[in-house]
Amino acid sequence: MARGERRRRGAPTDGARTAEGATRGGPARRESRVGVARGTVGGAVLAIVALPLALTLSGNWLLAWHRARRAVTLHSAPPALPPDSSSPAVAPDLFWGTYRPHVYFGMKTRSPQPLLTGLMWAQQGTTPGTPKLRHTCEQGDGVGPYGWEFHDGLSFGRQHIQDGALRLTTEFVKRPGGQHGGDWSWRVTVEPQASGTSALPLVSLFFYVVTDGKEVLVPEVGAKGQLKFISGHSTELGDFRFTLMAPTSPGDTAPKYGSYNVFWSSNPGLPLLTEMVKSHLNSWFQHRPPGTSPDRYLGLPGSLKWEDRGPNGQGQGQGQFLIQQVTVKVPFSVELVFESGSAQAGGNQALGQLAGSLLTQALESHAEAFRERFEKTFQLQKKGLSPEEQALGQAALSGLLGGIGYFYGQGLVLPDMKVEESKQKVAPALFPPVPLFTAVPSRSFFPRGFLWDEGFHQLLVQRWDPRLTQEALGHWLGLLNADGWIGREQVLGDEARVRVPPEFLVQRAAHANPPTLLLPVAHMLKGGDPADLAFLRRAFPRLYAWFSWLHQSQAGPVPLSYRWRGRDPALPTLLNPKTLPSGLDDYPRASHPSATERHLDLWCWVSLGAHVLVQLAEQLGESEAAAELGPLAASLGAEILDELHWAPELGIFADFGNHTKAVQLKSRPSQGLVRVVGRPHPRLQYVDALGYVSLFPLLLQLLDPHSSRLGPLLDVLADSRHLWSPFGLRSLAASSPFYGQRNSEHDPPYWRGAVWLNVNYLALGALHHYALLEGPHQARAAKLHSELRANVVGNVLRQYQATGFLWEQYNDRDGRGMGCRPFQGWTSLVLLAMAEDY
Ligand SMILES: *[C@@H]1O[C@H](CO)[C@@H](O)[C@H](O)[C@H]1NC(C)=O
Repeated sequence: MARGERRRRGAPTDGARTAEGATRGGPARRESRVGVARGTVGGAVLAIVALPLALTLSGNWLLAWHRARRAVTLHSAPPALPPDSSSPAVAPDLFWGTYRPHVYFGMKTRSPQPLLTGLMWAQQGTTPGTPKLRHTCEQGDGVGPYGWEFHDGLSFGRQHIQDGALRLTTEFVKRPGGQHGGDWSWRVTVEPQASGTSALPLVSLFFYVVTDGKEVLVPEVGAKGQLKFISGHSTELGDFRFTLMAPTSPGDTAPKYGSYNVFWSSNPGLPLLTEMVKSHLNSWFQHRPPGTSPDRYLGLPGSLKWEDRGPNGQGQGQGQFLIQQVTVKVPFSVELVFESGSAQAGGNQALGQLAGSLLTQALESHAEAFRERFEKTFQLQKKGLSPEEQALGQAALSGLLGGIGYFYGQGLVLPDMKVEESKQKVAPALFPPVPLFTAVPSRSFFPRGFLWDEGFHQLLVQRWDPRLTQEALGHWLGLLNADGWIGREQVLGDEARVRVPPEFLVQRAAHANPPTLLLPVAHMLKGGDPADLAFLRRAFPRLYAWFSWLHQSQAGPVPLSYRWRGRDPALPTLLNPKTLPSGLDDYPRASHPSATERHLDLWCWVSLGAHVLVQLAEQLGESEAAAELGPLAASLGAEILDELHWAPELGIFADFGNHTKAVQLKSRPSQGLVRVVGRPHPRLQYVDALGYVSLFPLLLQLLDPHSSRLGPLLDVLADSRHLWSPFGLRSLAASSPFYGQRNSEHDPPYWRGAVWLNVNYLALGALHHYALLEGPHQARAAKLHSELRANVVGNVLRQYQATGFLWEQYNDRDGRGMGCRPFQGWTSLVLLAMAEDY
């Protein structure tokens, strides 16, 4: 993925700002989007007019036009998921969820036009000026550590958030019933970080509800100016009602004095909510519990009044935004109760309101059920892991599940254009509107879908809840275009878009990404669960189209070789032009990008893919596909791997291309760092970059246990001069000239030494595999497995205990967590490493 790109942008907040500025042009952009979405009819008309014209002018133009249309046309295969699979009628238990991973706490419905709820908070009176309003997860806002202690991916979660002197706990639990997704309740508890502090802080919590115009919200105001209820109605949700309960002391029902403020307006657009609240926090109020001296606080207006002002002070936005501020001295708890009319009528009313002690009971029984199911699934206790390791495992799983989001929108796609086909500059086009239910790499920094991350995410998710994995894979396969391509980064909807600067919004339809979704697919095949197989049957045509596109579009210069399309151009400022499609961004490749390159990791992914697809076709009785792919899978074996990628002079597998070692960045006056190429000149040869790519035939278990190549791979893996570090396998050998090198003045090393959990997990799986198979390396593989596992798990645990976070990558010299945090995407695989589940 283009992670390096985003990291290079510098402070995440800056990036977000820029992007936010860019999306402010709201209405105009929205218009143009609709225009393109309706383009199908227009397209047909255009075709009739354009066809004769094009034939007379240029057949190439027509070809380019056709290609551009296919890039943004959805694939015609039947969907992998049943119709309306996200609707409350078909999947009521998944309708509501914490599907807004980029906010500290919020829920929404799985709908293109969702009802959204969220929490903001601010500590009052600490410093003069505006209090710090917390809402969206940010890298640099000083909040943390934070993360889910429990989250079952379905109906319950408990999160802890540290914010300076405050410790917040946010909990939710759902109660099924009715036809509209059921009821749910929140509890937010705020306590002082240190006990016995003399001056207890005054804190405001802001609970909000946002609609997009479909739902009707009717607030009812109580005597103190507080909202008693918010009632509402929508087609998807039927009748519903929110109730904000009075604050209490934590852990009991003793009421605490709260001051109320409220703001109600048209919805300014989701990315603007924080700003809107900030700009209305402009009056001073007094918080004066009976018998105490007053405290001043900044608040929203004191009474309910509809403010129909759009973001620019004009026009009406879509939908409504209603936010209640409640200000209380810590410690306290506040509960928000959502009741669905049909669930209440269907029997939930008789159970009593899910608040107070009933809510406590529900939370406790869910926590207990989580612990039991966790042990039953992963058996960490039984396998002798410590309580600390078990807690890490629970946090890893919960953070991943709590990071699952539901997105809806249109991506931008640059069609695959050959220069000769179109003399004109090709503009990006809008992809049709699509939903995506997916886990995310990082709530603070990558809160959206990434294709190759998702395969790793689902390896863990499927152990816990196979249905969630079917849902996620089904959605990803729904993104397939007519050619069989899926964009590697999915920026769908305003909330996702606001986190990405405009220049990174466009996905290129010629570029691939490792087909890691086939890893959970292979696991499904192995498990043979009937529901999984039923899913695979529906998904097969799409998996097949996706894989076919991959191996055809990325075919290399010689038969059965493969080349990642989309390396960066050889700019004079880059030490080694990056290969973002590979997922390994700045991992060094041939020094001079060319069409003669062949990439080892891609070859291995295609080989693995062919084998998985053939197996799948055979098991599902898809004989035609099996017959077609069988020969490909058979030819992508050890022999051709050796022929294309074994570098005798290096004694290892390698990329091949136009390459020289003699490349350096040198500082030049007024130019900064500039790439200098010395002697020997580049020539076609194997690329001497020892690292993760070299290990791929081992990582994907493509080698026979008796292969003579296995020994050399284990040698470099186990050698501390090369890949072995006390904290896991490093991405690039310490002996490599590129080790720890920047790629440009502004581009620090990314996959050039750091320890990454996804690849370490693959390595553990491979070592475990070879430890089970008879062969000359069996005992060694077993020993390396247990040492590597201890190193990786030990370091992730130490860093978690020291910082409270799982990290994007780990320093190979001191083990320190690096990159963004929390990174509860594939770093959560530490749980499967602990469970030795591969
Ligand atoms: C390798 O790259 C150099 C520098 O761009 C170029 O002059 C040379 O022709 C290339 N060699 C091959 C075989 O592509």
